[in-house]
Amino acid sequence: MATDQIRFVDGAAYERYMGTWSRLAGERFLDWLAPEPGLRWLDVGCGNGAFTEVLVERCAPVAVHGIDPSEAQLAHARTRPALRSAELRQGDAMAQPFADSAFDAAVMPLVIFFVPDPAQGVAEMARVVCPGGIVAAYAWDMTGGGFPYEALMVEIRELGIEVPAPPSPDASRLDAMRKLWAGAGLKSIETMEITVQRIFADFDDYWATILGGPSVGPKLAAMASDDLSLLKARMRARLPADHAGRIGCSARANAVKGRV
Ligand SMILES: C[S@@+](CC[C@H](N)C(=O)[O-])C[C@H]1O[C@@H](n2cnc3c(N)ncnc32)[C@H](O)[C@@H]1O
Repeated sequence: MATDQIRFVDGAAYERYMGTWSRLAGERFLDWLAPEPGLRWLDVGCGNGAFTEVLVERCAPVAVHGIDPSEAQLAHARTRPALRSAELRQGDAMAQPFADSAFDAAVMPLVIFFVPDPAQGVAEMARVVCPGGIVAAYAWDMTGGGFPYEALMVEIRELGIEVPAPPSPDASRLDAMRKLWAGAGLKSIETMEITVQRIFADFDDYWATILGGPSVGPKLAAMASDDLSLLKARMRARLPADHAGRIGCSARANAVKGRV
């Protein structure tokens, strides 16, 4: 297991690397939640606002708050016109800077595996949501091969290079999520899998995208040119292009919802 941490230092690079994926999964997630309009929402680990924007566009919220530890991610989120009236600030899932029952719904999109103590993060969501309100999350199935760049991770590791991993990958399993939600005293718990597909214009588009990844980007930048060429060749073989040169990649997330 690599010991260095994943750092979110570039909101624009994140947008290309993960924001597009987050929106694809986030739309399916919100369809499944089917929330009524006019709720007070909290987005825990809102990052660069990729999902928050979908939330605002689709759910007609009366108020939206977002917290994230990364100032670079928040700075990008604040540039989104749709988030002009959202309250975005630095904060940690494990110590949410809000009063009890301050929200009608709290979500944690693609974040639970980054939280060192996931149970504490879920307990905090349950605390800040009012009775009857929604507590929900979705996360790539990290241990089940659902991460969008899983094939790339495998190939990099085959070259003997460690890629930093999030601290709590097991929390993204469906059974673990159900247990976390039950442990926080949440009711009416349901889970589902979300599979999404993303099309890259061509291999160069794919490659430029991964260079901005918070976990792989710095590793690729530090690789010897021979290793990099080998990796590129192996990834080309793994990601066959269609007749127009496009490359399709899929990813699978697990989602959970419950009521306070
Ligand atoms: C994969 S990104 C997801 C961002 C956004 N929710 C989305 O769907 O695009 C993970 C985010 O979790 C944030 N994060 C890491 N540790 C956290 C913690 N302890 N509490 C809250 N957010 C955290 C990171 O800064 C990063 O922005």
